[in-house]
Amino acid sequence: MRYCAVNRAGKSIVLIGMMGAGKSCVGRSLHRRTGLVLRDIDEIVAANFGTSIPEIFVEHGEKTFRKAETEALRCMRGEEQRIIVTGGGIVLRKENVEILRSHSVIVWLDGDEQTLFARASRKQHRPLLQTENPRKTFSQILAARRPLYANIADIRVDTSVLTDEEVAMAILVKLGRIRPKRRSLISP
Ligand code: S3P
Repeated sequence: MRYCAVNRAGKSIVLIGMMGAGKSCVGRSLHRRTGLVLRDIDEIVAANFGTSIPEIFVEHGEKTFRKAETEALRCMRGEEQRIIVTGGGIVLRKENVEILRSHSVIVWLDGDEQTLFARASRKQHRPLLQTENPRKTFSQILAARRPLYANIADIRVDTSVLTDEEVAMAILVKLGRIRPKRRSLISP
């Protein structure tokens, strides 16, 4: 079944959250379920530079990456309703938050710290975790960002014990377009 109009206001669905929250996979699932175009900010930035995110961090530094993230968001203003997957640091710039708020329902994929870190460290290339103590770094970043995610999110889903498909379903349920099969999928 496809869900062509996920909300009446025609707003895009933006996925925010920490590294390891499952934003990309859940985004793909929402894309399949809604038929909406999928846009991934990291992919757009990487394509614009013609290289990978880790390479951008190494070659140009984090500041340049952050500017490119904002530029990618700016270019998406005025586009029709979409599923937008963001990088974990999208909440760090005020302009990003303003752009996202202006045209989107903001969905925060959260989870318990252990689970998020375990998932995030499955991929070895995450630039911000290339430190002596990635676990500690992760913890510090998460502590700093949780209030930012909480502040802008319209919807929060705890992904800790859910599959990507269940998370996508929970989001659509919360958006009010489909009926829950299991009420337990919805976080309070
Ligand atoms: C970042 C998260 C990454 C990517 C970049 C910076 C962050 O995306 O945008 O490495 O600041 O948390 P994911 O959240 O998809 O890992």
